[in-house]
Order: sequence, then structure tokens, then C-alpha cells
Amino acid sequence: MEQQFCFQRTKHFGMALNTVSLAICILLGAAEFVPSPRITWHLKEINLIHFHVQGVSNYSTLLLSEEKDVLYIGAREVIYAVSSLNVTEKLHEVYWKVTDEKNNECARKGKSKQTECLNYIRVIQPFPDNSLYVCGTNAFQPTCDYLDLNNFQLLGKNEDGKGRCPFDPAQSYTSVMVDGELYSGTSFNFLGSEPIIFRHSHQSQLRTEYAVPWLNEPSFVYADVIRAPANNPEGEDDKVYFFFTEVSVEYEFFTKLLIPRIARVCKGDQGGQRTLQKKWTSFLKAKLICHSPENNLIFNVVSDVFILKPSDSSEPKIYGVFASNLNNVGLSAVCAYNVSAVEDVFAKGKYMHSATVEQSNTKWVRFNGEIPKPRPGACMNNEARAMNYTNSLNLPDMTLQFVKDHPLMDDSVTPNGNKPRLVLQNVTCTQIVVDRVKALDGNSYDIMFISTDKGTLHKAISHDTDLRIIEEIVLFPHLQAVQTLLLSNKEGKRFIYAGSNTGVVQAPLAFCEKFASCVDCILARDPYCAWHPVKSSCVHILQESNVDGNLIQKLSGDISYCPDSAENPKGMMHTVKPGSMVELKCSQKSKIASVVWKFRKGTLKFKLPKYHPLESGLVIFNITEEDTGIYNCSSQVEVGNKIISQLLIQHVIEIEKLPTTMESTTQPSTKTSTTPFHSKVFELFTSKKTTTQILTTTFAATSLSVKIQEIPTPAHEPCSKKSAEVAMLKQSDCTLLIFLILLFGTLLVILLVYNCYKGFLPDQCLKFHAMLHSGKPKTPPDYIDPEHGVKENLVESKCPPNQYENTHKVPHDTGYETEADCGNGSIPHAEDTGILENGKDQPFDVKCDLKYADSDGE
Ligand SMILES: *[C@@H]1O[C@H](CO)[C@@H](O)[C@H](O)[C@H]1NC(C)=O
Ligand SMILES: *[C@@H]1O[C@H](CO)[C@@H](O)[C@H](O)[C@H]1NC(C)=O
Ligand SMILES: *[C@@H]1O[C@H](CO)[C@@H](O)[C@H](O)[C@H]1NC(C)=O
Repeated sequence: MEQQFCFQRTKHFGMALNTVSLAICILLGAAEFVPSPRITWHLKEINLIHFHVQGVSNYSTLLLSEEKDVLYIGAREVIYAVSSLNVTEKLHEVYWKVTDEKNNECARKGKSKQTECLNYIRVIQPFPDNSLYVCGTNAFQPTCDYLDLNNFQLLGKNEDGKGRCPFDPAQSYTSVMVDGELYSGTSFNFLGSEPIIFRHSHQSQLRTEYAVPWLNEPSFVYADVIRAPANNPEGEDDKVYFFFTEVSVEYEFFTKLLIPRIARVCKGDQGGQRTLQKKWTSFLKAKLICHSPENNLIFNVVSDVFILKPSDSSEPKIYGVFASNLNNVGLSAVCAYNVSAVEDVFAKGKYMHSATVEQSNTKWVRFNGEIPKPRPGACMNNEARAMNYTNSLNLPDMTLQFVKDHPLMDDSVTPNGNKPRLVLQNVTCTQIVVDRVKALDGNSYDIMFISTDKGTLHKAISHDTDLRIIEEIVLFPHLQAVQTLLLSNKEGKRFIYAGSNTGVVQAPLAFCEKFASCVDCILARDPYCAWHPVKSSCVHILQESNVDGNLIQKLSGDISYCPDSAENPKGMMHTVKPGSMVELKCSQKSKIASVVWKFRKGTLKFKLPKYHPLESGLVIFNITEEDTGIYNCSSQVEVGNKIISQLLIQHVIEIEKLPTTMESTTQPSTKTSTTPFHSKVFELFTSKKTTTQILTTTFAATSLSVKIQEIPTPAHEPCSKKSAEVAMLKQSDCTLLIFLILLFGTLLVILLVYNCYKGFLPDQCLKFHAMLHSGKPKTPPDYIDPEHGVKENLVESKCPPNQYENTHKVPHDTGYETEADCGNGSIPHAEDTGILENGKDQPFDVKCDLKYADSDGE
């Protein structure tokens, strides 16, 4: 598929070159940025609390009641209430099974009796009168009911859940309850082909028009309300935002091009009187851009969104996690948006208009004509009220017809800073929640918790230029996707809850107590953690009062404030026989710091076969008098521009003075270890190693028969360490990788040579080519300078100034004047849209990618 993108752009170059440029795109995409987590917490190191009931799966829906300290869990055919302080504590459960009749009926329609024709709980929302509103797929007959929390029983109302809950458990959906009305994004029919954004309340129901410009195969990810501010001079309404990925209408493309969208409706909307009756009059949507201009990475699939609503009066912030199915597969990104930027697009932005060109073709271009008043799609505000429009029912037909035809904004929502906050490599992010924590330096930090499809959670910080993944937490034992993330905001009881197919897990927001020393605590640079000098422990700042200001927190990583920073570390003495070997232990948890060995005032150079660095330390062979002395092992980490060094352990080696017996030369005795030499060697291969170590010992290691078994490891360590088994496994990965790289390289060279030979490449190559062909007649002119060809092509398709004025009017453009790139109303034709433009508002302009159907070259 990617190759197709490339071919389009560079058809003049020949196919081979496209593959080369694609390769370069991929290589560029894989390079630099992307911080890796500083620490990975594995399940056995931390006490996470798991909830799981035998025989029950698909724990996909979570709702937290902060005042009651209860977490409601919707699984397959059952709803639980558990304590939110300890999720293993089950308080209540209620089964909601499909009837045999429904199950059979569903199976007759061709669905799986055992999996699809069951009741997957999809909606659990708070409802007045101490009850919950719940909906399930109910064997492809979505049904909603009320759960009475007094006795934890379903009322058995069995309302038709169409539009509130999907038919198919595999389909995307989202919902939010606002003032007793359920807003949902889902599909409206059995086939899942009719998407809908729906509002259900007993008085009224509103829905989207069933039309491609409104929703085009959307995949819903999130919905939430943003309330109008309390002091609201414009008399604005509360707004409900929906986030989804859909197939673009505005870009002409070979395949379906996916586009991330934000849509919004107004809470006060009541539909139109004649036009848009029982339909949204305030539905507008815009493109949500998440694009990294520096390296031309486009993230065109929104996977999840979180709206951070600070408790103070500061404006809410939208965080989205994105992936891509274009040029940068394997990367994920987080982009943040100001709500004010979003509102500006909807309140002031231009609309898009479907213009007919070339008889039957339509293209979506900017609408530049006159916009009816009141502004189409706007929420009711003081301005509309001043015009005597008090609600949507009495809006004029002009306005309603306009919004019906123009639900898509031309302006897009751009991220803060015009680039992603964070780009992650080799992970597929599934969910995001964000917490704002006020650190002891007085600044507020937004901490992003991003879950993956491998059951892990990344905790990241992005503050000014400080961009880090503080830690990675393995939440689930088996590689399984985290499907729901929930953050508890209750003071003093702050947890994160994650749901997956097999269970629910409760995790703390930080693991401060894991850092045993002040230095470790400071170097974690975690805004939640600070060193308590009196307790001599690393504490959670939100759970510890800082009354006397004695807590030590330096997010810069400055460890000089630590009382124990000068403290002597552990020491170890090794007395060994000459010619024997010794293992000096030294390990650290941080994965971004490096271990440095110092010996006799210099950094130790690892010369093989004398020294063998391991992940857990260093082995020195054939000890002689030369090797005696003090070995200092320290960890070094770069923070800002400074190198922070921390002495971890000190080893002293001395030679045993006593005369030795014959056998003891093969069995050296050290104070710390008395393992025989051969087992030491074995241990060398079976103990933890660095990647290079593994590679250098490939042949030796393969001759050992070590059982290979699958051990779950975080996915972003392709060539990681762990243990011999994993080492073996990973080693084959690495070999394969190297093989592939070599193969790829060879292909690249062949392609280059081929293209050069064919004269597709410029300059030096052409000289080379000319050398080869000296004497022969020149190659046909259209090959000579492909870049020139492209330039020509560009010039050709860029409209020359004024040339088209008054000549190329868009046919059949009924009354609506459209503004295209040339500022003259012309629209580039299909043949010459192979060009790319560099408009700041157009993220889809990767070198090798797509062409634009619209054109907006301001
Ligand atoms: C339900 O969970 C099972 C594994 O327990 C998984 O295979 C299946 O895909 C899940 N179904 C849905 C609809 O999520
Ligand atoms: C709105 O209605 C009031 C009372 O019916 C009338 O006096 C006023 O002129 C109207 N304003 C507009 C802008 O039509
Ligand atoms: C977003 O809002 C913050 C303050 O809340 C402001 O500093 C920043 O400039 C805004 N960014 C954009 C792109 O509007």
C-alpha cells in the first residue's frame, strides 16, 4: 500500500526509484527522537491489584464513582461493583445473559453462537436516583436497562438500545452521559454500515443525517462534554465533542484515506422544525492534525483521546494518541490541543463545500461565498438570541440547509506547538489518560499515561523541552491490549485502572517507594516523588504533607541536595588466586543510564578476552598483579547538558598470598563466589548480557542447548537481555534483523545501480552513466533530469498567476464561489494533482505520499 503512495508522486522516476524513496522514508521515520522508558517495572517487582473472575472475559467498560469509592466493571454478560481502593474486593455482581432464544436467532443470522451472540456490556453511565444506565450488545439486539444501585438489580426495562450501543461487539463505540442524556457514537444497524452520533433522552432524540459528508465509515474513540465557563459573557452553550477516525471525502486517493476528526454538537440543540427535523443542527466536524513537520511524520488515525479538565479555572486541554497507516507504521504520537483552538475552528473557521467539477466529479474545496446568519452549526448564544433565535427549532431554513450540506470545516485543528508532544516507537498505543500534578517547584506538569496493545503503560512527561518516559509498567501478564484506562482523581486515593480481555488492574500513579536512596529518588525525576529526609524514604508528594518544606524534589535531577549524596556506597572485597577469574557485580534499574567502570583513576576499557561486561556486572579473566586494586562502578546519566554520575558499588581485588595446591588453580576461590570455572563460563552465557555481548558470543551460545520459551517482554526492546532463553530467542530476532537489513541494503544498491544505469538518477550518476556509455548516443531526453521533470511538472500544475482568471470557472458551482489554491476559483485537475504543496495546514504532504484533491495555496 505504501508503495502505491510513492508511485503516484514519482511516476516520472520509474518504479524502482519509488521503492528507494519509500525505503528512505521508512529509515527516516525510524530514526532519532523517541525516548525509551527510564525504568520498566515488571509484574513481580510491583504490587498491582488484579480483578478477574474465572470464566468471565472482556472487561471492557469501566465507570468510577469517586464519592462511593466504587468501580463498576462491565464484562461479558455480567456487571460488577468492586471497591475502587482495592479492586479484588468484589461488592456486587449482576448477570445479564442473553436468552437462548436470542442466542439462537443471532446464530441463525450467521454470527458466532459462542462469541458474538452474547451480551457485551458497552455502556455504563451514571443515572439519577441512585441508578446506572447500562447497555449491552445482547446478541446483536442492543438493549439498555437501568441498574438499581440500592439492591444491585436490573430493572428489566429492556429498552431498544439502537443508536446507543453497537450491534456487533467488535465495532467501535463511544458514549458520554451529560445531564441525564446519553450521547453516543456507534452504528445503527445490524450490518454496522450506518454510523450515527445520537442523543437519547426520554423527551427527545437527535441523530446525525445518514450521509457520507456527515459520517463516512467512522471509528469512534471518545466523547466528552466541555462545559461553558461559569462567567460566560457570550451566553455559550455546553458542547459535546466526539473523536473518531473516518474515511476522508476531501482528499482524492487510491485507497480509502483515513483522517482523524473532531466533531461537536451543542447540548441545547433540539433539531430543526422542518429541515433537519430530529437531526443535529449543530453538528460540525474538522480535521484533527497530528503531524511532525521536522521529519514529515503524519499520524492519521486517532486511537484515543482524553480531555484534561483542570480543577482550577484554566482551560481544558485535549490529548489525543495517534497512529498512522501511512508512512510511519510502528510509531505512535501524542498531540495536545487547546480547547480554545478547537472552538475557534468551529466558531470562526471556513466551511468546506462540495463542488461539482468535470460533469459528475465532486471535490471538496473551501467555501468562500456568503454564509447565512445566524452562523450555521453555531450553538445558541447571546448573538443569536439578540436576533430573536432562542433555540434551534426556530432557526431559519437557510442556516439549517447550509449546515446540512456543509458539516465539514475547511480549517483544521492544529496541535499546540504545531507538532506532537511525544512520539513513541514500536508500540501501538491504545488509550491515554492525563493527570496534572503540581510539583514542589510550584509548576504544574501534565503526566501522560499511555497504554499499549502489549499490556503495558507508559508514563510520560512533556514539559517545555523536557520530554521523557519516566517509567513503563507491565500491567498484564500476557501480551494483551489494554482496552480501557481510567484515572481516579480523588484526593489521596489516586489510582489508574486498566481493563483488558482478561481482567482489570489497579495501579498507583507512581512507585516512589521503590527508590531506596535519595539519589535514586531524585534521579527518577518523577513529579509525584520526593525524598523525605526524616523518614529516609522516597514518598508520594500528594500523600505526604510538606509542611516544613523538608521534602526534597529536584526535577532537574540535581542530586547535590541529597544528604546522602556523598555517602560511601557498598564495597566488596575479592581475594583471588593468580590466573583465576572474578565477577564484579554491579547493576542498576535505570535503562537510560550507562554503567561506567573506573580503575586506577581511569575509565576501564573493555578489552576482550580479558574483560566481559555483563548486564549485572563485569567478569575479569586471568587475574594478575596488574589487576589488583579498586574498581568503582558508577551509573552515568545525561540530564539536560550535564552528566550525573552516581557511584553504585566499589570492588577491591587482591591476589591471594598463600602458596596454592595443584587443583586449586582450576578452582579459584574468591570471597564472594566459589563457583568452579566451567560453571562460571556457563553462567557467563546464561546470565544477563548486553546485546553486543550476545552477538559476540553467538556461536558459543548456540552450541549450548538451552530451552527456548516465550517470555513476555515489552515490545520495544527488540534485542533485549533478560536471561539466556530470551537471549537465544532475541538473538535469532537480531540475526533475522541483520539479515533483513543486509538483504535490503543489497536490494537498494541493485536498485540504485539499475536506476543509474537507466539514467534515472541525476548528476554524478549521470556522469558515471555517461562514462559507461561514452561514445554511445545519448539516452532519450525525457530521462535526463528527472528532478527537472518534476520541477516542470510542478510549475505546470501550479497555476501561473492570473492566467486562469475568469477563464476556468468551476462548472455547475451553483451560487457558491469556491476558493482554490490559485486564489482564482480554479481547481487543479486530476492529472496535475500529483504535486505536493507545503501549506502549513496540510499535514498530508509527505514527500512520497499523496496528492491533494483540494488545493489551498495561501
Ligand atoms: C473477548 O475476549 C476474548 C479473549 O478472552 C477475545 O478473544 C475476544 O476477541 C474478545 N471479544 C471482544 C469483542 O472484545
Ligand atoms: C425581536 O422580537 C422583539 C419582540 O417580538 C422585537 O421587538 C424585536 O424587534 C425583534 N428583534 C429582531 C432583531 O427581529
Ligand atoms: C494554548 O493555551 C496555552 C495556555 O493555556 C497558551 O500558552 C498556548 O499558547 C496556547 N496554544 C495555542 C496553540 O493556542
